[in-house]
Amino acid sequence: MDFSISISASPHQTKSPALAVGVFTDGVLSVAADAIDRASNGAVRAVVKTEFTGRVGSTLVLRNLQGVAAPRVVLVGLGKQAEYTPRAHARAEQAFAAFCVQARLTEATSTLAAIDCPTAPVRDRARSAAAACGEATYHYDASFGKPDLNARPKLKKLTLQFADAADRAAATQGLAEGGALAHGMSLARTLGNLPGNICTPTYLGEEAKALGKQFKSISVKVLERKQIEALKMGSFLSVARGSAEEPRFIVLHYKGKPVAAKRGAKTAATGPIVLVGKGITFDSGGISIKPAATMDEMKYDMCGAASVLGTLRAVAEIGLPGEIIGLIPTCENMPSGTANKPGDVVTSMSGQTIEILNTDAEGRLILCDALTYAERFKPAAVIDIATLTGACVVALGKVNTGLFATDDALADALLAAGKQSMDTAWRMPLDDAYQEQLKSNFADMANIGGQPGGAVTAACFLSRFAKAYHWAHLDIAGTAWRGGGDKGSTGRPVPMLLQYLINQS
Ligand code: BES
Ligand code: MN
Ligand code: ZN
Repeated sequence: MDFSISISASPHQTKSPALAVGVFTDGVLSVAADAIDRASNGAVRAVVKTEFTGRVGSTLVLRNLQGVAAPRVVLVGLGKQAEYTPRAHARAEQAFAAFCVQARLTEATSTLAAIDCPTAPVRDRARSAAAACGEATYHYDASFGKPDLNARPKLKKLTLQFADAADRAAATQGLAEGGALAHGMSLARTLGNLPGNICTPTYLGEEAKALGKQFKSISVKVLERKQIEALKMGSFLSVARGSAEEPRFIVLHYKGKPVAAKRGAKTAATGPIVLVGKGITFDSGGISIKPAATMDEMKYDMCGAASVLGTLRAVAEIGLPGEIIGLIPTCENMPSGTANKPGDVVTSMSGQTIEILNTDAEGRLILCDALTYAERFKPAAVIDIATLTGACVVALGKVNTGLFATDDALADALLAAGKQSMDTAWRMPLDDAYQEQLKSNFADMANIGGQPGGAVTAACFLSRFAKAYHWAHLDIAGTAWRGGGDKGSTGRPVPMLLQYLINQS
């Protein structure tokens, strides 16, 4: 997918296979829709009166209008003007892209991002237009015997048109960010959607190396079992032991230009931001095996890892200043004669021992060693991303990611980035009182805290390994993929993470 900007106050002269113009309810036309209306002797107002209400995301195509260069003008509904939100804009861009995909168009132009939105400046609108288009044109066919070429979107180039040349700089920047975001989300989605027998820990390691090849700013180390053993990651390795697949510990190092020193700042440099992604390429539960129904969805248990790769891809494409580390512990969780057993006690890299009361609480067992490993970077902040608990889905559903943090400033920055990118999180508690549920009679802690507050006690477990730095944990169990007939990866929380990193740089 290619994105570009054009500046023109005469949309009727725009030569493009399809031109999107926005229409609010109650007959209120956007500036571009009004220009088309005037050029075409009232063709837009005529249909708005009779058959197009302007409901958010609805579309109506007008063909071969007199006085209009584009053969298709696509009216896109924006809802009530007084209630126009960034989300309505994103839905409108998605609807237009979906129309272009259906019509098998290769190229199109949208004027929708030029429409004023009180809570989103031009840069944000351009970014979200590209992301919405990426969303609508995403197509998975990596594991079909005969990929259906007719189903594969042809739309390759989207131009955002603005009337005012003063918008060019912000639009260009937002579009570059949005294009990179779309590519990062697409990578994250495809890795999530790939089946567990293809997307193995080894495969994720190779994908990471490929990123390192593609972008000079990313260097990659993929540690194998021997090296992981040398690091004494006993907790991570205990999960890997049950599977025939070899584990990997992936370290990605992104180095952009140095961050411009803030004026008056006393300290010249702070450490990197570290992203840690859960990379369980299949979670059967292990000896504490899961029920069969929907177990296939546990191929998505590496979506945290996928979001780290997708975010770093986006960061590298934009060329953000600063330093970012990605850490991915990755293995399978399987039952076997060598698998963890309930009651086993393992020793983590930190030296703390863990009684494994349920082998299905494996995410925290691999993350804890990665969190200890993160200490060596003297990070400014560490954010882990994990499909960690079914309890988080019970608590927040599929709308918000669960956010846990020991640092209020970090939590607020992530919440704000989530709102700005329409990839929202909801803050959850981390009170010390929950820690009591992790008490074990045979080790420093148990790996489960019982049913009450399951998402919180999982976060509490992680917090014991994240004391050396500012830390946040994103539980994406409800937001990383959709089940049912619409089954597929969402690419969340790449938008939130990228926005956070943009805002920090
Ligand atoms: N990967 C799962 C979490 C999960 C389950 C995400 C269902 C989305 C949907 C995780 O490894 C897990 O199995 N967690 C257990 C923890 C429990 C044993 C304390 C869970 O949530 O049931
Ligand atoms: Mn599990
Ligand atoms: Zn899991």
